Amino acid sequence: MVQIKRICCIGAGYVGGPTCSIIAQMCPEITVTVVDVNEDRIKAWNSDSLPIFEPGLQEVVESCRGVNLFFSTDVDDAIKEADLVFISVNTPTKTFGIGKGRAADLKYIEACARRIADVSNGCKIVVEKSTVPVRAAESIRRIFNANTRSSLNFQVLSNPEFLAEGTAISDLKNPDRVLIGGDETPEGQRAIEALRSIYEHWVPKTKIITTNTWSSELSKLAANAFLAQRISSINSISALCEVTGADVEEVAHAIGTDKRIGSNFLKASVGFGGSCFQKDVLNLVYLCEALNLPEVARYWQQVIEINDYQRRRFSSRIIGCLFNTVTDKKIALLGFAFKKNTGDTRESSSIYISKYLMDEGARLHVYDPKVKKEQIIQDLSHPTISEDDPDRVSRLVTISTDPYEACENAHAIVICTEWDMFKELDYERICKAMLKPAFIFDGRRILDSLYDKLQNMGFQVETIGKRISQKIPFTVNNDIAKVDLQVPPTKKSKS
Ligand code: UDX
Ligand code: UDX
Repeated sequence: MVQIKRICCIGAGYVGGPTCSIIAQMCPEITVTVVDVNEDRIKAWNSDSLPIFEPGLQEVVESCRGVNLFFSTDVDDAIKEADLVFISVNTPTKTFGIGKGRAADLKYIEACARRIADVSNGCKIVVEKSTVPVRAAESIRRIFNANTRSSLNFQVLSNPEFLAEGTAISDLKNPDRVLIGGDETPEGQRAIEALRSIYEHWVPKTKIITTNTWSSELSKLAANAFLAQRISSINSISALCEVTGADVEEVAHAIGTDKRIGSNFLKASVGFGGSCFQKDVLNLVYLCEALNLPEVARYWQQVIEINDYQRRRFSSRIIGCLFNTVTDKKIALLGFAFKKNTGDTRESSSIYISKYLMDEGARLHVYDPKVKKEQIIQDLSHPTISEDDPDRVSRLVTISTDPYEACENAHAIVICTEWDMFKELDYERICKAMLKPAFIFDGRRILDSLYDKLQNMGFQVETIGKRISQKIPFTVNNDIAKVDLQVPPTKKSKS
């Protein structure tokens, strides 16, 4: 069997960094080098302040950094020395040209393949870790075949990563499954065995699934699409709950106890965010369209439509409850990350909700325990969010370092991320310092057990998937326009 002694991982992001840190920890005899073109990122990986916040990651990195785990910008050297190369670069949604707003941009994957072909000698196993459209491995293989020299021999595998941010370390240490796809040839099977032997250091054999390359690539897209679909399904039910008197938490519990349905991923929310769900569902939609399967494409597109609808619905509820105007009103936005226990804001619903409120002239005071001020400002200054008004963010947005300060003199609190600390806040103190009537919009259902108490304190509580107060004074305005961060706004013509 091929013995892997050296691994190179291209891309030191949310996937490459944690995955390779765990491989290094679990396989002390293997040298793992994670490389990235971004010097600042590599500097941070080599410092006490890692570039990403992930519970438990710091300890893992500290236990093997400088021993068998290295972070470097010397991409060529690391590729040359490696027996196995993970490609873990980002595959963003295209923002221009054919497939704009939907197709995955594979330019970084292609650049990696060309670099590997250029600098390699001998045999190498090249593993796609990044999520890619089905048959992307074929493009990598074609680049290798077109650039091959007699001294070269490449095997391409697909090994998608299923970790979720915020729980990456436990997901990696204890995965539901590891999926490896490869060629059905003897060489392909040998490469699969080599990669399998790495995971077998800590993952039970029965959890390692091997398939052909295309099944593996498609399984990753399908898994993310199914997960996203569950959230859109429960969110669609939450809309129904709010007008019928049903409670979405009770409905989710009642249906989730059916083993065939299961209880995970049925939490109604302000809509899913993160770097993967939207991108991968759109990628699937695009693929179906390209393969002349328009009905399938439309089916999955609807998952995105509901997510978008949920964000607009929640925002219009805020505006409606605040007497149909938030102009110049102070609103405390608690939570900016796309979920708790991460500092990542990619596609966070907070960005969209902030936009809708800023469109109405609200003054936002944003607090998040892990997201940096610069990141929030950068996200809200995106051309799609700030529209034709680049000064809008400096005029309307204040970043708070303290939740109490964010809530002082506010008309409303809007909870966008389910950080545990938001359950522990002193709401008596907050209520006293707010303007009356004081509103709480719980976009995550984290204050469920406190609703009675909060109402007794004087709060008007509004939540997802349950009608709590009967005091909605105006008809809710559903007239909010759709926006998409991946599609830059078209320039408005000056009349
Ligand atoms: C993830 C996954 O890898 C992918 O499967 C998923 O579909 C989306 O994003 P993630 O680790 O979250 O990637 O992305 P990111 O944090 O952006 O990290 C990618 C890294 O690759 C960046 O640090 C970037 O600088 C680096 N990169 C990109 C290179 O080193 N070389 C390149 O050519 C391109
Ligand atoms: C997801 C997949 O879970 C993971 O397997 C894949 O590798 C990458 O994409 P991630 O995006 O990091 O992981 O986090 P996840 O926990 O899936 O949450 C995604 C979004 O859905 C978050 O905004 C989260 O708050 C939201 N969500 C999740 C809900 O709104 N309700 C739920 O029940 C679950």
